[in-house]
Amino acid sequence: MDKLLLIDDEADVQYSFRRIFDSAAIELHTASSGEEGLKLVPKLKPDLVLMDIRMGTGMNGLETLRRLRQHDARLPVIMMTAYGTTQTAIEAMKLGAYDYLLKPFDVPKLKQLVADALQAARAMRQTVSCQPLLESEDYDLGIVGRSAPMQEVFKLVGQTAGTDATVLITGESGTGKELVARAIYTHSRRAEQPFLAINCAAIPENLLESELFGHEKGAFTGAATQRIGKFEQCNGGTIFLDEIGDMSLPTQTKILRVLQNGSFERVGGNQPVNVDVRVIAATNKPLEEAVAARSFREDLFYRLNVIRIQLPPLRRRREDIRLLVDYFLRKYARARSRPPGAIHPDALAALERHHWPGNVRELENVIQRSLVVGKADAIMLADLPAEILTERPSVTAEPAPAAAPARVPEPGAANEVPALARALFAWARAQRTLKVLPAVERELVICALAETHGNQVQAAKLLGITRATLRKRIEKFGIQRELSIH
Ligand SMILES: Nc1ncnc2c1ncn2[C@@H]1O[C@H](COP(=O)(O)OP(=O)(O)OP(=O)(O)O)[C@@H](O)[C@H]1O
Ligand SMILES: [Mg+2]
Repeated sequence: MDKLLLIDDEADVQYSFRRIFDSAAIELHTASSGEEGLKLVPKLKPDLVLMDIRMGTGMNGLETLRRLRQHDARLPVIMMTAYGTTQTAIEAMKLGAYDYLLKPFDVPKLKQLVADALQAARAMRQTVSCQPLLESEDYDLGIVGRSAPMQEVFKLVGQTAGTDATVLITGESGTGKELVARAIYTHSRRAEQPFLAINCAAIPENLLESELFGHEKGAFTGAATQRIGKFEQCNGGTIFLDEIGDMSLPTQTKILRVLQNGSFERVGGNQPVNVDVRVIAATNKPLEEAVAARSFREDLFYRLNVIRIQLPPLRRRREDIRLLVDYFLRKYARARSRPPGAIHPDALAALERHHWPGNVRELENVIQRSLVVGKADAIMLADLPAEILTERPSVTAEPAPAAAPARVPEPGAANEVPALARALFAWARAQRTLKVLPAVERELVICALAETHGNQVQAAKLLGITRATLRKRIEKFGIQRELSIH
């Protein structure tokens, strides 16, 4: 149940809120003055505060807001204001209010705003850890994975969390980019400060700039009042720019400036605004290609790419599938207050074979859906969706990376191996974080095993190494499962 605290001195506003939020999901508390509200908050620990800006007696709304934020910067506060006092509402946004509402209320809008703020508050408070503790009552949201590439991710999360560095998280859709961003935030020095996530692809291009940086009154048609953007509102906190590859070039320019010197101008304004915000960015688009196509600024790319966390696709870490299935079985059992369900070995094997184009999100959906369609307490093979059952088990050699820019020599040409290696090295240098030798070694092992249908003796011969060495490589790169299926 969510706790909502209303701070308003008018009895009829309190009355109408009781009627509007008369639901089992919300517990409404009221206070009639700023002082009373401030006293109540530490005891009550509300999830959201709604407060009138102008109160008849005592401390005004802005001062109360300032003190509330000193107490807990993550507590969302929605300010309520009558027409004609929007300037004060804008001041409230600069102080970090979640949003403001005009009186008289548009009830559906009020309910939507309350729902959004509660969700943002929950997301900020939920600790994301790399070792989810499902056993405990108050379990953490976790990033599950024990495979070598995920260990690498955990290491980077740990290393970057304590710094204020900009982080770029890349990976296919559903690989857990947002989860990683939240993990960095929850372990950072700014964990007590707000976290705002903005999906750059979901906001129309012409509105994104104003959403992020705000605008001055009259900046464009329809800009009737000044508006405070997310960077200003989130001062001191962390901003997660999701799908940054979809950002327009002018907005990219502004982002670059914020990253370089912490300042920007509101749209239509000429006064620099200074902020202290940590930026975490994510994208599932290959930014290197966008840079080459000149749709993404190269300087911004290098600025973001200082710390890069590359999330591996699920098919590259099949050993994690079993763990993830277990995690989701427990998660959904908990949601339904039931003991965790089980999975039949054949069903698990099918999941371990699947190609997972939608990665962890797809796996989570499959588990959730199978629990619903299944009749027994265990997920059986027949409960799985058709696309998993009909997929032909295959030896999944990954497609080769995008064509190397350097020329590949003709087979049989003199010195072809050195030439190939040099071409590869030149290509790899452009991928600043790629560990080229292990990556190439891993691909070669996969190719050889794929060619020989998993026959290790033959594969070792093709590679010119002993079987024992091949085994060590298979182990090291975690490719056993990927190829032991025929
Ligand atoms: N390693 C993981 N352990 C547990 N849950 C995970 C893991 N990775 C992803 N998930 C879950 O999968 C879903 C998708 O993750 P998330 O939203 O972070 O992906 P994404 O990479 O941001 O995807 P997109 O590019 O589509 O936005 C979420 O419900 C998330 O909790
Ligand atoms: Mg995402």
